[in-house]
Amino acid sequence: MQHFSIAIDGPAGAGKSTIAKAAAERLGFIYVDTGAMYRAMALYFLRQGIDPAAEEEISASCGQADVTIRYQDGVQQVILNGENVSALIREEAVGNMASATSVYLPVREKLVQLQKQLAAQADVVMDGRDIGTCVLPDAQVKIYLTASVAERARRRFLELEKKGQEADLEAIKEDIRQRDYRDMHRENSPLVQAEDALYLDTSEMTISQVVEEILAIAASKGANVPS
Ligand code: DC
Repeated sequence: MQHFSIAIDGPAGAGKSTIAKAAAERLGFIYVDTGAMYRAMALYFLRQGIDPAAEEEISASCGQADVTIRYQDGVQQVILNGENVSALIREEAVGNMASATSVYLPVREKLVQLQKQLAAQADVVMDGRDIGTCVLPDAQVKIYLTASVAERARRRFLELEKKGQEADLEAIKEDIRQRDYRDMHRENSPLVQAEDALYLDTSEMTISQVVEEILAIAASKGANVPS
């Protein structure tokens, strides 16, 4: 049986994970956060003290980082060489290392294979940068989710503030611009809108408006959307 897939791509901070998670919950699908897999690999490279520019070293050590995922109460857990690293991969440093090391083909090939396997086994909402273009080119629904740099920085700022962490809005904006540039201009699977993806700018939309829109599209493609 062919499973139903919803591919959500977009830049950092566009709200992909919040929206993908909510849509998956409503549909009874599995939510697959592919960024978490790149982050787990990045954590491995950071722990090994590997320079993100050292392509050969990264390619050679890729095979030593075993990344898998499992679900605990419906929440994705990322396992790196047997260790649940889900709580350790949300730091900015890990995100930046993930952006820098996800440019390398051996890293991508390894994780794309895992992502394809997951989508072959279950109905999924999968988010990332290359889901609609590379990982699941036949996904029934493809969304390109974005928001302005200013709005994405504002959301990140509020998130950090809520956690009681100090944050500098201008520094966050600069970080977002750099990450966008790297993710959109890399040679392997850059972030681009798939031709058949729906472009959704969430700058002026609430989370529930975006989720409802995605559910309506999924329903129009044959997904069973419980009310
Ligand atoms: O979505 P995120 O911030 O957790 O992703 C971290 C980095 O991983 C992102 O900057 C680029 C990379 N990534 C990727 O190259 N392809 C994906 N499908 C998901 C993430």
